[in-house]
Amino acid sequence: MTRILTGIQSSGKPHLGNILGAIKPSIELSKNSKNESLFFIADLHSLINIKDSKLRKENTLAVAASWIAMGFDHDKNYFYRQSKIKEVCELAWYLNCFTPYPMLSNSHSFKDKSDNLSDVNSGLFTYPVLMAADILLYDSEIVPVGKDQKQHLEITRDIAKSFNHNYGETFIIPESKIDKKVQTIPGTDGRKMSKTYENTIDVFADEKYLKKQIMSIVTDSKGLDDKKNPDTCNVFNIFKLIASEVEVKEMKKKYNEGGYGYGHAKNHLLTLILELYRDERKLYSELLNNQDHLYEILEKGEKKAKVIAGEVLDRVKNKLGY
Ligand code: TRP
Repeated sequence: MTRILTGIQSSGKPHLGNILGAIKPSIELSKNSKNESLFFIADLHSLINIKDSKLRKENTLAVAASWIAMGFDHDKNYFYRQSKIKEVCELAWYLNCFTPYPMLSNSHSFKDKSDNLSDVNSGLFTYPVLMAADILLYDSEIVPVGKDQKQHLEITRDIAKSFNHNYGETFIIPESKIDKKVQTIPGTDGRKMSKTYENTIDVFADEKYLKKQIMSIVTDSKGLDDKKNPDTCNVFNIFKLIASEVEVKEMKKKYNEGGYGYGHAKNHLLTLILELYRDERKLYSELLNNQDHLYEILEKGEKKAKVIAGEVLDRVKNKLGY
């Protein structure tokens, strides 16, 4: 069994970019019977920038519901909230004492963020140490992450090696898995789909809202009868990521022939999303309407995760003489 672990930012309703870029590939990986996956919602990390408690709760539930709705098998695997396994905070403290200050102050992500945020708190600074604790607490072997997280994984490995060097084999040294194939998903304005740019397509939103987002996709000003270039069109570029080969070919033909407006293409995209994600959308709203059930699923995962965390933390404390 290979143990795969990844943390999910709890930043609200996942959009099409999250689904195609992270959720689906991670769920695929977890389906391999040789893998055991631990996926958790990083709700402690979220305190660095989200101070509103109601929002955090809503975001956490929305993220949990979407991963389950997209088919993550939470019985076979582990699905939990980071904050519910308190051992992670204790381990983060120990690891802090093995983390050279310059390693954190030189981290790209800290430098970028501290230049741009008004609230530069110490949590932002020690973010990579909590992340190292997330990973090392569960003897993780493979950590799938986006390329922006590569340096954080290197920091984790350095901390683990330094600890092992001092106290003998204690931690498993994890490997990052950065999927280069995952393409950037374009948003409604053609830039990378991201909440920050407000250009997302919220697959789990109600139909009216989803329609509004799709209708807002930016196009050029060609008229209905004009021939259009599919390759430079945002509607087509989003459509082709989720449609079948035949559907893509058909839409391409319509663009090239003319007599097919952007409004038509947008409606086609909307219909496809509603159809493709019909079951997932239904399950998502059922889960959010029955939060007790959602909490039960998370608590089940937390109980299982706590067993591993307890064992690893004991191992560490023994080494440290506590
Ligand atoms: N930092 C990750 C991100 O921004 C989220 C995360 C927190 C994480 N802890 C983790 C990812 C541990 C992998 C492993 O996406």
